[in-house]
Amino acid sequence: MKSLKSFSSSYFGAQGRFWQHIKPLIRQDTPRYFDYTMGGFSNPLKAFDELGKEIIVNDMCQYVVLGAKSLLEYPLDTNLNLLHSQILNIKRHHGILSQLGDARISKGIEEGKNICLYAPFTTEQREFIDGVCLEFQNNPRMLFAVGKVLINFTFRGVSWCNKTAQNKKSSEYTIKELTDTIYHWYVKLNEFRDLVIMKGLNLSHRVLSCDAQKLSQEYPALHENATLYADPAWPWKVKYDLPNPYFFVARDLSSILLQKQQDIGQLRWDTMTNDEIADEASTWVLNALNAGGKRFILNTQSTNRPEVSLLEQYIQQKNINVVNKIVQTFSGTHNSFDETWLVCEK
Ligand SMILES: C[S@@+](CC[C@H](N)C(=O)[O-])C[C@H]1O[C@@H](n2cnc3c(N)ncnc32)[C@H](O)[C@@H]1O
Repeated sequence: MKSLKSFSSSYFGAQGRFWQHIKPLIRQDTPRYFDYTMGGFSNPLKAFDELGKEIIVNDMCQYVVLGAKSLLEYPLDTNLNLLHSQILNIKRHHGILSQLGDARISKGIEEGKNICLYAPFTTEQREFIDGVCLEFQNNPRMLFAVGKVLINFTFRGVSWCNKTAQNKKSSEYTIKELTDTIYHWYVKLNEFRDLVIMKGLNLSHRVLSCDAQKLSQEYPALHENATLYADPAWPWKVKYDLPNPYFFVARDLSSILLQKQQDIGQLRWDTMTNDEIADEASTWVLNALNAGGKRFILNTQSTNRPEVSLLEQYIQQKNINVVNKIVQTFSGTHNSFDETWLVCEK
Protein backbone atom coordinates (compact mmCIF):
# COMPACT_ATOMS: atom_id res chain seq x y z
CA MET A 1 0.00 0.00 0.00
CA LYS A 2 1.19 3.54 -0.72
CA SER A 3 2.59 5.69 2.06
CA LEU A 4 1.27 8.96 3.43
CA LYS A 5 4.79 10.33 3.71
CA SER A 6 4.62 12.84 0.91
CA PHE A 7 1.89 15.02 2.43
CA SER A 8 2.95 18.54 3.38
CA SER A 9 1.46 22.03 3.50
CA SER A 10 4.69 23.28 1.90
CA TYR A 11 5.25 26.18 4.18
CA PHE A 12 8.00 27.60 6.32
CA GLY A 13 8.97 25.60 9.42
CA ALA A 14 7.78 22.14 8.37
CA GLN A 15 9.64 19.40 10.26
CA GLY A 16 9.05 16.29 8.19
CA ARG A 17 12.79 15.63 7.88
CA PHE A 18 13.10 15.26 11.68
CA TRP A 19 10.69 12.32 11.87
CA GLN A 20 13.49 9.80 12.39
CA HIS A 21 14.45 11.68 15.58
CA ILE A 22 10.88 12.14 16.79
CA LYS A 23 9.60 8.61 16.16
CA PRO A 24 11.67 6.86 18.86
CA LEU A 25 10.62 9.49 21.42
CA ILE A 26 6.90 8.65 21.12
CA ARG A 27 5.90 6.39 23.99
CA GLN A 28 4.80 3.01 22.72
CA ASP A 29 2.26 2.59 25.49
CA THR A 30 0.35 5.73 24.50
CA PRO A 31 -2.37 5.01 21.94
CA ARG A 32 -2.67 8.69 21.04
CA TYR A 33 -0.36 11.30 19.47
CA PHE A 34 -1.49 14.87 20.11
CA ASP A 35 0.36 17.57 18.14
CA TYR A 36 -0.22 21.00 19.71
CA THR A 37 1.25 22.96 16.76
CA MET A 38 0.95 20.61 13.78
CA GLY A 39 2.04 23.06 11.06
CA GLY A 40 2.78 21.07 7.90
CA PHE A 41 1.08 18.04 9.51
CA SER A 42 3.34 15.36 8.06
CA ASN A 43 4.67 13.97 11.37
CA PRO A 44 1.26 13.25 12.92
CA LEU A 45 0.31 11.46 9.69
CA LYS A 46 3.42 9.31 10.05
CA ALA A 47 2.53 8.59 13.70
CA PHE A 48 -0.81 7.33 12.43
CA ASP A 49 0.63 5.48 9.45
CA GLU A 50 3.76 3.91 10.94
CA LEU A 51 2.85 3.60 14.62
CA GLY A 52 -0.91 3.11 14.41
CA LYS A 53 -1.58 6.04 16.75
CA GLU A 54 -4.88 7.86 16.97
CA ILE A 55 -3.99 11.46 16.12
CA ILE A 56 -5.25 14.72 17.54
CA VAL A 57 -3.89 17.76 15.70
CA ASN A 58 -4.09 21.43 16.51
CA ASP A 59 -2.85 24.72 15.12
CA MET A 60 -3.96 28.32 15.34
CA CYS A 61 -3.17 28.84 11.67
CA GLN A 62 -6.36 28.25 9.70
CA TYR A 63 -4.63 27.41 6.41
CA VAL A 64 -2.93 24.48 8.10
CA VAL A 65 -6.20 23.42 9.74
CA LEU A 66 -7.87 23.28 6.30
CA GLY A 67 -5.26 20.73 5.20
CA ALA A 68 -5.86 18.50 8.21
CA LYS A 69 -9.66 18.76 7.83
CA SER A 70 -9.35 17.86 4.19
CA LEU A 71 -7.62 14.61 5.10
CA LEU A 72 -9.24 13.65 8.38
CA GLU A 73 -12.75 15.08 8.18
CA TYR A 74 -14.01 16.16 4.77
CA PRO A 75 -15.76 13.34 2.90
CA LEU A 76 -14.08 11.65 -0.04
CA ASP A 77 -15.23 12.83 -3.49
CA THR A 78 -16.21 9.88 -5.60
CA ASN A 79 -16.92 11.80 -8.80
CA LEU A 80 -14.46 14.52 -9.82
CA ASN A 81 -15.49 14.66 -13.47
CA LEU A 82 -17.10 18.07 -13.58
CA LEU A 83 -14.81 19.77 -11.12
CA HIS A 84 -12.17 21.05 -13.55
CA SER A 85 -14.65 22.91 -15.74
CA GLN A 86 -16.48 24.16 -12.66
CA ILE A 87 -13.26 25.80 -11.41
CA LEU A 88 -12.30 27.10 -14.86
CA ASN A 89 -15.67 28.80 -15.32
CA ILE A 90 -16.06 30.11 -11.81
CA LYS A 91 -17.98 33.36 -11.37
CA ARG A 92 -15.40 36.09 -10.74
CA HIS A 93 -15.68 37.82 -7.38
CA HIS A 94 -14.24 41.03 -5.95
CA GLY A 95 -13.13 39.56 -2.61
CA ILE A 96 -10.20 39.76 -0.19
CA LEU A 97 -7.42 39.26 -2.74
CA SER A 98 -9.02 41.65 -5.26
CA GLN A 99 -9.60 44.34 -2.67
CA LEU A 100 -5.93 44.31 -1.85
CA GLY A 101 -5.37 45.84 -5.23
CA ASP A 102 -1.74 46.83 -5.39
CA ALA A 103 -1.65 47.63 -1.72
CA ARG A 104 1.34 46.25 0.10
CA ILE A 105 0.20 43.63 2.54
CA SER A 106 1.12 41.33 5.36
CA LYS A 107 1.18 41.46 9.12
CA GLY A 108 -2.56 41.20 8.87
CA ILE A 109 -4.93 42.32 6.21
CA GLU A 110 -7.48 43.24 8.84
CA GLU A 111 -5.12 45.53 10.64
CA GLY A 112 -4.08 47.24 7.44
CA LYS A 113 -0.41 47.12 8.33
CA ASN A 114 1.93 47.26 5.37
CA ILE A 115 5.05 45.21 5.59
CA CYS A 116 5.56 42.65 2.83
CA LEU A 117 5.54 42.81 -0.94
CA TYR A 118 2.16 43.27 -2.59
CA ALA A 119 0.46 40.20 -4.02
CA PRO A 120 1.82 40.06 -7.57
CA PHE A 121 -1.39 39.22 -9.43
CA THR A 122 -3.49 40.76 -12.16
CA THR A 123 -7.09 41.78 -11.48
CA GLU A 124 -8.28 38.80 -13.51
CA GLN A 125 -6.18 36.37 -11.42
CA ARG A 126 -7.33 37.95 -8.16
CA GLU A 127 -11.02 37.85 -9.02
CA PHE A 128 -10.68 34.28 -10.19
CA ILE A 129 -9.06 33.16 -6.91
CA ASP A 130 -11.61 35.10 -4.86
CA GLY A 131 -14.38 33.49 -6.91
CA VAL A 132 -13.08 29.98 -6.23
CA CYS A 133 -12.78 30.71 -2.50
CA LEU A 134 -16.33 32.05 -2.34
CA GLU A 135 -17.89 29.24 -4.37
CA PHE A 136 -16.10 26.55 -2.35
CA GLN A 137 -16.19 28.29 1.03
CA ASN A 138 -17.51 25.14 2.74
CA ASN A 139 -15.00 22.80 1.15
CA PRO A 140 -11.71 22.70 3.13
CA ARG A 141 -10.09 20.52 0.46
CA MET A 142 -10.64 23.11 -2.26
CA LEU A 143 -9.56 26.00 -0.05
CA PHE A 144 -6.42 24.15 0.96
CA ALA A 145 -5.68 23.33 -2.70
CA VAL A 146 -5.97 27.05 -3.51
CA GLY A 147 -3.64 27.80 -0.59
CA LYS A 148 -1.08 25.30 -1.90
CA VAL A 149 -1.17 27.03 -5.27
CA LEU A 150 -0.88 30.51 -3.76
CA ILE A 151 2.20 29.44 -1.76
CA ASN A 152 3.90 28.86 -5.12
CA PHE A 153 3.72 32.65 -5.58
CA THR A 154 5.71 33.33 -2.43
CA PHE A 155 9.24 33.11 -1.20
CA ARG A 156 9.07 29.91 0.89
CA GLY A 157 5.63 30.85 2.17
CA VAL A 158 7.07 33.89 3.92
CA SER A 159 5.98 36.74 1.65
CA TRP A 160 4.72 37.31 -1.90
CA CYS A 161 7.19 37.09 -4.73
CA ASN A 162 6.93 38.40 -8.30
CA LYS A 163 8.36 35.21 -9.72
CA THR A 164 7.55 31.62 -8.86
CA ALA A 165 10.13 28.92 -8.19
CA GLN A 166 9.67 27.93 -11.85
CA ASN A 167 11.17 31.35 -12.72
CA LYS A 168 8.00 32.58 -14.37
CA LYS A 169 6.38 35.95 -13.62
CA SER A 170 3.44 35.40 -11.30
CA SER A 171 1.20 37.70 -13.35
CA GLU A 172 1.77 35.55 -16.46
CA TYR A 173 -0.05 32.49 -15.17
CA THR A 174 -3.25 32.00 -17.13
CA ILE A 175 -6.58 31.12 -15.55
CA LYS A 176 -6.28 27.73 -17.25
CA GLU A 177 -2.87 27.14 -15.63
CA LEU A 178 -4.18 28.19 -12.22
CA THR A 179 -7.19 25.91 -12.68
CA ASP A 180 -4.98 22.99 -13.67
CA THR A 181 -2.81 23.32 -10.57
CA ILE A 182 -5.73 23.82 -8.19
CA TYR A 183 -7.41 20.78 -9.72
CA HIS A 184 -4.15 18.79 -9.53
CA TRP A 185 -3.89 19.49 -5.78
CA TYR A 186 -7.56 18.79 -5.21
CA VAL A 187 -7.26 15.37 -6.83
CA LYS A 188 -4.05 14.60 -4.93
CA LEU A 189 -5.60 15.56 -1.62
CA ASN A 190 -8.64 13.44 -2.41
CA GLU A 191 -6.29 10.52 -3.08
CA PHE A 192 -4.58 11.12 0.28
CA ARG A 193 -7.99 11.06 1.95
CA ASP A 194 -8.77 7.80 0.21
CA LEU A 195 -5.47 6.38 1.45
CA VAL A 196 -6.10 7.54 5.02
CA ILE A 197 -9.47 5.74 4.93
CA MET A 198 -7.92 2.57 3.45
CA LYS A 199 -5.35 2.58 6.20
CA GLY A 200 -8.16 2.31 8.72
CA LEU A 201 -8.85 5.86 9.83
CA ASN A 202 -10.28 5.78 13.29
CA LEU A 203 -13.19 8.18 13.61
CA SER A 204 -11.86 9.57 16.86
CA HIS A 205 -9.08 11.49 15.08
CA ARG A 206 -9.65 15.19 15.75
CA VAL A 207 -8.65 18.49 14.14
CA LEU A 208 -8.61 21.47 16.51
CA SER A 209 -7.76 25.13 16.01
CA CYS A 210 -7.21 26.49 19.45
CA ASP A 211 -4.52 28.54 21.16
CA ALA A 212 -2.20 25.85 22.55
CA GLN A 213 -2.46 27.66 25.84
CA LYS A 214 -6.13 26.73 26.20
CA LEU A 215 -6.07 23.16 24.91
CA SER A 216 -5.84 21.36 28.25
CA GLN A 217 -8.74 23.42 29.63
CA GLU A 218 -10.97 23.06 26.59
CA TYR A 219 -10.20 19.45 25.65
CA PRO A 220 -8.95 17.71 28.83
CA ALA A 221 -10.24 14.26 27.80
CA LEU A 222 -8.20 14.29 24.59
CA HIS A 223 -4.99 14.43 26.64
CA GLU A 224 -5.54 11.12 28.40
CA ASN A 225 -2.84 8.56 27.64
CA ALA A 226 -1.32 10.73 24.95
CA THR A 227 2.18 11.52 23.84
CA LEU A 228 2.01 15.27 23.18
CA TYR A 229 4.28 17.21 20.85
CA ALA A 230 4.89 20.94 20.32
CA ASP A 231 7.35 22.92 18.25
CA PRO A 232 5.84 26.37 18.53
CA ALA A 233 6.89 29.41 16.54
CA TRP A 234 9.58 30.54 18.98
CA PRO A 235 10.72 34.13 18.32
CA TRP A 236 14.03 34.63 16.49
CA LYS A 237 17.05 35.45 18.64
CA VAL A 238 18.27 38.01 16.15
CA LYS A 239 15.71 40.68 15.45
CA TYR A 240 15.38 40.82 11.65
CA ASP A 241 13.69 43.77 10.05
CA LEU A 242 11.15 41.40 8.55
CA PRO A 243 7.75 40.21 9.67
CA ASN A 244 7.52 36.93 11.56
CA PRO A 245 7.46 34.29 8.78
CA TYR A 246 4.29 32.74 10.18
CA PHE A 247 2.34 35.94 9.56
CA PHE A 248 1.97 35.16 5.91
CA VAL A 249 0.29 31.77 6.21
CA ALA A 250 -1.58 32.50 9.38
CA ARG A 251 -2.87 35.92 8.51
CA ASP A 252 -2.73 36.84 4.81
CA LEU A 253 -3.22 33.41 3.32
CA SER A 254 -5.85 32.29 5.82
CA SER A 255 -7.80 35.53 5.26
CA ILE A 256 -7.77 35.08 1.48
CA LEU A 257 -9.13 31.56 2.04
CA LEU A 258 -12.00 33.20 3.94
CA GLN A 259 -10.97 31.74 7.28
CA LYS A 260 -11.58 33.69 10.42
CA GLN A 261 -8.13 33.83 11.94
CA GLN A 262 -7.91 34.22 15.68
CA ASP A 263 -5.04 36.25 16.98
CA ILE A 264 -2.04 33.98 16.72
CA GLY A 265 0.08 32.89 19.62
CA GLN A 266 3.38 33.66 17.96
CA LEU A 267 2.49 37.35 17.84
CA ARG A 268 2.18 37.30 21.59
CA TRP A 269 5.54 35.62 22.03
CA ASP A 270 7.34 38.08 19.75
CA THR A 271 6.72 40.81 22.29
CA MET A 272 7.36 38.76 25.44
CA THR A 273 10.54 38.31 27.49
CA ASN A 274 12.43 35.02 27.56
CA ASP A 275 11.20 34.31 31.09
CA GLU A 276 7.58 34.97 30.16
CA ILE A 277 7.80 32.65 27.15
CA ALA A 278 9.56 29.89 29.12
CA ASP A 279 6.89 30.18 31.79
CA GLU A 280 4.06 29.94 29.28
CA ALA A 281 5.54 27.00 27.34
CA SER A 282 6.31 25.06 30.52
CA THR A 283 2.73 25.73 31.66
CA TRP A 284 1.47 24.08 28.44
CA VAL A 285 3.54 21.04 29.43
CA LEU A 286 2.37 21.04 33.06
CA ASN A 287 -1.32 21.40 32.25
CA ALA A 288 -1.17 18.78 29.50
CA LEU A 289 0.45 16.24 31.84
CA ASN A 290 -2.01 17.12 34.62
CA ALA A 291 -4.86 16.49 32.16
CA GLY A 292 -3.64 12.90 31.76
CA GLY A 293 -0.93 13.18 29.11
CA LYS A 294 1.85 10.62 29.65
CA ARG A 295 4.68 12.47 27.89
CA PHE A 296 5.20 15.92 26.41
CA ILE A 297 7.94 16.43 23.81
CA LEU A 298 8.92 20.08 23.48
CA ASN A 299 11.06 21.03 20.50
CA THR A 300 13.12 24.15 19.84
CA GLN A 301 16.07 25.46 17.78
CA SER A 302 19.25 27.31 18.72
CA THR A 303 18.28 30.11 16.30
CA ASN A 304 15.37 31.01 18.52
CA ARG A 305 14.74 32.22 22.02
CA PRO A 306 14.50 31.43 24.89
CA GLU A 307 17.56 29.23 25.42
CA VAL A 308 16.95 25.54 26.08
CA SER A 309 18.56 25.88 29.53
CA LEU A 310 15.92 28.45 30.56
CA LEU A 311 13.14 26.21 29.29
CA GLU A 312 14.54 23.31 31.29
CA GLN A 313 14.75 25.47 34.38
CA TYR A 314 11.07 26.47 34.13
CA ILE A 315 9.99 22.92 33.39
CA GLN A 316 11.86 21.54 36.40
CA GLN A 317 10.55 24.29 38.68
CA LYS A 318 7.08 22.96 37.91
CA ASN A 319 8.13 19.50 39.17
CA ILE A 320 8.21 18.00 35.72
CA ASN A 321 11.07 15.65 34.86
CA VAL A 322 13.08 16.02 31.69
CA VAL A 323 13.55 12.27 31.16
CA ASN A 324 15.48 12.62 27.92
CA LYS A 325 17.09 15.41 25.93
CA ILE A 326 18.08 14.95 22.29
CA VAL A 327 20.27 17.52 20.54
CA GLN A 328 21.05 17.25 16.82
CA THR A 329 23.11 19.63 14.71
CA PHE A 330 21.82 20.43 11.21
CA SER A 331 23.08 22.60 8.39
CA GLY A 332 20.77 25.46 7.54
CA THR A 333 20.83 27.83 4.57
CA HIS A 334 23.46 30.11 6.10
CA ASN A 335 24.88 28.28 9.10
CA SER A 336 24.43 25.24 11.27
CA PHE A 337 21.97 25.13 14.13
CA ASP A 338 20.96 22.77 16.94
CA GLU A 339 17.56 21.20 17.11
CA THR A 340 16.61 20.10 20.66
CA TRP A 341 13.85 17.84 21.91
CA LEU A 342 13.01 17.90 25.63
CA VAL A 343 11.12 14.79 26.68
CA CYS A 344 9.02 15.66 29.71
CA GLU A 345 7.07 13.47 32.13
CA LYS A 346 5.52 13.90 35.58
C1 LIG B 1 7.45 25.42 13.62
S1 LIG B 1 5.79 25.41 13.10
C2 LIG B 1 5.32 23.74 13.34
C3 LIG B 1 5.87 22.85 12.26
C4 LIG B 1 5.32 21.45 12.24
N1 LIG B 1 5.77 20.67 13.33
C5 LIG B 1 5.67 20.80 10.92
O1 LIG B 1 6.41 19.83 10.90
O2 LIG B 1 5.20 21.28 9.90
C6 LIG B 1 4.98 26.23 14.41
C7 LIG B 1 3.45 26.20 14.32
O3 LIG B 1 2.93 26.63 15.57
C8 LIG B 1 1.71 27.30 15.37
N2 LIG B 1 1.48 28.07 16.60
C9 LIG B 1 2.26 29.02 17.13
N3 LIG B 1 1.78 29.46 18.30
C10 LIG B 1 0.67 28.72 18.55
C11 LIG B 1 -0.26 28.67 19.62
N4 LIG B 1 -0.16 29.47 20.68
N5 LIG B 1 -1.26 27.79 19.55
C12 LIG B 1 -1.40 26.97 18.48
N6 LIG B 1 -0.56 26.98 17.43
C13 LIG B 1 0.47 27.84 17.47
C14 LIG B 1 1.99 28.12 14.11
O4 LIG B 1 0.80 28.49 13.46
C15 LIG B 1 2.84 27.15 13.28
O5 LIG B 1 2.04 26.40 12.39
